[in-house]
Amino acid sequence: MEIITSVAEMTAWSNQRLKAAETIALVPTMGCLHTGHLSLLRTAQGAADVVVLSIFVNPLQFGPNEDFSRYPRPFTADCEAIAANQGDVVFAPQPSSFYPDDFATTVTVRGLTAGLCGASRPGHFDGVSTVVAKLFHVVKPNIAVFGQKDFQQLAVIKAMTADLNWDIEIIGHPIVRESDGLAMSSRNRYLSPTERQSALCLWQGLHNTRHAVKHGEHNCHSLLAQLRAQISTDPTVEIDYLSIVDDTTLQPQTQIDTHSILAMAIKIGTTRLIDNGYLTLEESL
Ligand code: PAF
Repeated sequence: MEIITSVAEMTAWSNQRLKAAETIALVPTMGCLHTGHLSLLRTAQGAADVVVLSIFVNPLQFGPNEDFSRYPRPFTADCEAIAANQGDVVFAPQPSSFYPDDFATTVTVRGLTAGLCGASRPGHFDGVSTVVAKLFHVVKPNIAVFGQKDFQQLAVIKAMTADLNWDIEIIGHPIVRESDGLAMSSRNRYLSPTERQSALCLWQGLHNTRHAVKHGEHNCHSLLAQLRAQISTDPTVEIDYLSIVDDTTLQPQTQIDTHSILAMAIKIGTTRLIDNGYLTLEESL
């Protein structure tokens, strides 16, 4: 496995692969890899000839009071994990070369970024779309794989890719969960054992809401009121948002249909966690 830190070397590597008629898949990450990331890597390996996994803690997508400085950066362990899983290349650009002092461009996707995490984290999605646009230009992938835990991010990247006419297939990878249902996230590391227990309210909330839908409750207002009441029983959990939205427009819904996604964001202590899922899974219809 190769580790590339220079933008020019990364593009030269990709140009060689493309010249040899090989397909490239990109798995963009901020490092601190867990089983979920390795599962994105495996999906990418099944979809292309070679895979580039990028590791870059992108300062542009963190707000001033967010966890940029304390975001875990176990780079050596990450590279070992990728090597052990037959990754081809780790691309880890230096922040100063990726964003030189005179860097002045922002990629903004309007509309889809207005609600949910976009409302609570102003500027976050501009940071995400800007860095992903740069990664697309530098790595030149045919395919890029993103996790569905960040389903709003996935929708934004799909829209950006279509709007800017990039010939890149965007693959959404299903959420990978711990055995007790907690969605895998690099931020789970911040949780104390009791906080981790509290975090299970997300999975339980999704499960209970699916159960209520299955038993005939299709009014989104009532479903969200029940969910809010359930999550509020734990005073250590601060609700950021609970919303039922259409999977394409991300607009709030009033009645459940096959496009309904429950999207949740909470804070436990200083840790912000998100989760989501369709409400009309086959078994809940
Ligand atoms: O999902 C993430 O880890 C990040 O938002 C991404 C896509 C790597 C951009 O920094």
